[in-house]
Amino acid sequence: MYRTHNCGELRLKNLDQQVTLSGWVQKSRNKGFMLWIDLRDRFGVSQLIFDEQRSSKDLFEKAKTLGREFVIQVKGSVIERTSKNPNIATGEIEILVSELTVLNESLTPPFTIEDKTDGGEELRMKYRYLDIRRNYIKEKLIFRHKVSSEIRNYLTALDFIDVETPYLIKSTPEGARDFVVPSRMNQGEFYALPQSPQTFKQLLMVGGIDKYFQIVRCFRDEDLRADRQPEFTQIDCEMSFVNQEDVLKTFEGLVRHLLSSIKNINVDDFPRMTYDEAMSKYGCDKPDIRFGMELGDLNDVSKHKDFNVFNSSELVVGIAVPNGNAFTRKQIDSYTNWVRRPQIGAKGLVYFRFNYYGSFKSSVDKFYDQEDLGKWANITGAAKGDLIFILSGGVSQVRAQISALRLELAENLDLRKSDEFAPLWVTDFPLLEWDNESQKYHAMHHPFTSPKLDQLDLLEKSPEKVKANAYDLVLNGNEIGGGSIRIHDKKIQALMFKHLGFSEAQAKEQFGFLMNAFEYGAPPHGGIALGLDRLVAILHGEESIKDYIAFPKNNSGKDVMIDAPSKLDDIQLNELSLKLKSSK
Ligand code: AMO
Repeated sequence: MYRTHNCGELRLKNLDQQVTLSGWVQKSRNKGFMLWIDLRDRFGVSQLIFDEQRSSKDLFEKAKTLGREFVIQVKGSVIERTSKNPNIATGEIEILVSELTVLNESLTPPFTIEDKTDGGEELRMKYRYLDIRRNYIKEKLIFRHKVSSEIRNYLTALDFIDVETPYLIKSTPEGARDFVVPSRMNQGEFYALPQSPQTFKQLLMVGGIDKYFQIVRCFRDEDLRADRQPEFTQIDCEMSFVNQEDVLKTFEGLVRHLLSSIKNINVDDFPRMTYDEAMSKYGCDKPDIRFGMELGDLNDVSKHKDFNVFNSSELVVGIAVPNGNAFTRKQIDSYTNWVRRPQIGAKGLVYFRFNYYGSFKSSVDKFYDQEDLGKWANITGAAKGDLIFILSGGVSQVRAQISALRLELAENLDLRKSDEFAPLWVTDFPLLEWDNESQKYHAMHHPFTSPKLDQLDLLEKSPEKVKANAYDLVLNGNEIGGGSIRIHDKKIQALMFKHLGFSEAQAKEQFGFLMNAFEYGAPPHGGIALGLDRLVAILHGEESIKDYIAFPKNNSGKDVMIDAPSKLDDIQLNELSLKLKSSK
């Protein structure tokens, strides 16, 4: 038997018991006549003690040879510590060791395996298995497990069943690039890894499964960001005989269950906002509503003077920064520079101060008087002591810019509290969006999303005005889920394909399997997929998902530990009839 207890469970109540523990040497302190070792496993750390008086000479000498991260087994008795450590659960006891076995030696690790390590990102990724030994990562993985277990419990109790769908599939049209896999048996042909199991879950509904879920890996070849990995996990769900309200209620229930079971937080009904409202109030479709700073549309009150910058803009919009009047000129200049960076792309930033006496001082005093500024203050909801920032330009650019500025300000003013949770449903997304590159309309969600049926006649004349039965779940300014009610009528599906610029033959080629299935009694259905990595990170108070994934990719999409992606040898390439350009 390797152990009678784990390293995190012994307490004073175990005093005098003979125990066997196994684990890794976290550190050793040698006082000459006495030697302590912190022994670590997943469950915690126990202190071992060896001393000249009570331990045999051989044992004492052997203990001195142990290096960091050696794997050892010890037998000994639980004794009370003379100086207790209230910071760890086992801090009142220690193990007086009588037998020591080295189960495996270890090289000196390339970085310290402590909560705060000296290892840089690249090094830790290369030795991720050592990184995972650190509480910092280990606790994140344990937390992820807790969340996914609760998800399974909740959905299973509601009669959802977990069905696996294939990974080697045909391309699904979800907006990102596919990762493709060459087929050896069908030379010149490729599988695609699923960007999501979208079409399969719809086929499961045609198959009568009724309520499906899967915690499933998805693959998207897109540029990486803190909240994006090329392979990530969705909580993918679909339900039959439901309308939008049924889906929202079910998944609002799921998030509420997670918040109460895991965070002990009870939240009211989630607020809802249409896409149009979110865009005009916050400039983005995933607003962080933990704080105010809503946008004020100043178009009607800013274009009557000789200020050409505003007069020639499609949108003039402002936000009030709480207590921003205290900002120094230097701070204001640094925000001006911030919005001028290429990533944000604004030309400049107009501002005015609303001082404590109720008067205004602006960077455009030449053009606007106190009455004008009073109106602006009113529209942006500013109070005495605030600072108001104003941006102008084309509607979509300026909204994106001010929304980024709003988040930056909130971050700096510490308004984005990680222990506060503000979920939000954003509904009524546009069905289509114009893509400049291809000069075509694209489905904003995916081509299977149902338009609002009473707006079908708009499809011909003003397709951009048609809204979809599509919704996103937003948590603290992050999109954690998206879904829709699907088209289940093959005529409407064919109409959609037509508007997306597919010829009948192309639609048949790409989606014939789904269209065929719809010939056999497809039930009305809809669903959602939540991003598990994002949900877990946010519930844990962070926004970067990397450390919630055991073996993530780096920012260039590489796994530096296993060295992937990597080259194939000629034999493999030939077998797949793939020739690299250089080997021609
Ligand atoms: P969507 O594309 O909105 O919908 O994806 C659902 C959720 O998955 C998460 N997500 C990601 N997480 C980490 N890294 C990524 N690269 C990444 N991409 C997406 C987001 C997102 O909200 N089939 C539809 C769902 C449906 O209609 O039911 C779909 O995949 O949190």
